[in-house]
Amino acid sequence: MAKPLIVGNWKLYINSLVEAKKLLSALDKKLPKKSSALIVVCPQVPLAIALKVGYRGRRIAFGAQDAFFESEGAHTGEASPHAFAEGGIEYVILGHSEQRALGETNEIVAKKAATALREKLKPIICVGERERDTNGLYLNEFRKDIFESLSRLEATDASKIVVAYEPVWAIGGEETPEARTILETSVFIRKTLAEMWGRDAAFKVRIIYGGSVNAANAPLLVKEAKVSGVLVGHHSTDADSFATIVRAFS
Ligand code: PGA
Repeated sequence: MAKPLIVGNWKLYINSLVEAKKLLSALDKKLPKKSSALIVVCPQVPLAIALKVGYRGRRIAFGAQDAFFESEGAHTGEASPHAFAEGGIEYVILGHSEQRALGETNEIVAKKAATALREKLKPIICVGERERDTNGLYLNEFRKDIFESLSRLEATDASKIVVAYEPVWAIGGEETPEARTILETSVFIRKTLAEMWGRDAAFKVRIIYGGSVNAANAPLLVKEAKVSGVLVGHHSTDADSFATIVRAFS
């Protein structure tokens, strides 16, 4: 069984290096010493490498919240996956709904994922329905998003890829979908991956859940939704809450 993966997406909630260092050192103190979970925090671009370089601990790995699909060249304002990797960043969130809402397409996500892997970053590719209809029609769109967002990756990449199921309507609140729904959707994602790459490769992809994860609902997500990790937004910026979530997976 792969180790559970707990990712903190700090978004722009943490806005200064001082604040970020404080949170990191609180996390280092509060995270369980013997956790079997992989723990990743994703600060915003101007803070990510500075934090990683100054971090003396071992328990926390670092991720970026996005990275461009080219590593170099005339691309004003973008962040190069090569620079992230060189700075010790190991993961990158791609296709987050907050990026998709600004116009990011599946094609862009697919290109970013391929470049990230080439630069040895592990992509955490977010997919999730905007809303649910009672006939299950949203599943067609959902399936298309998975196919297209992963279209430039290969079955041989499977063990380096994370797919985060993030229902857009569940992000930023306190309520997750029912555990059964999350479980069924994870199975649907796995089946879609098997259609693309075959069963063996599909089982190598880590599937995690994100959207309103908190200290109170984390145990249920482990026990009933059987998720093997979570992507946590606002509750990842509170050291006590994040440590409690990690403990639920340890
Ligand atoms: P949330 O965000 O935990 O604040 O809902 C999750 C995410 O956007 O990844």
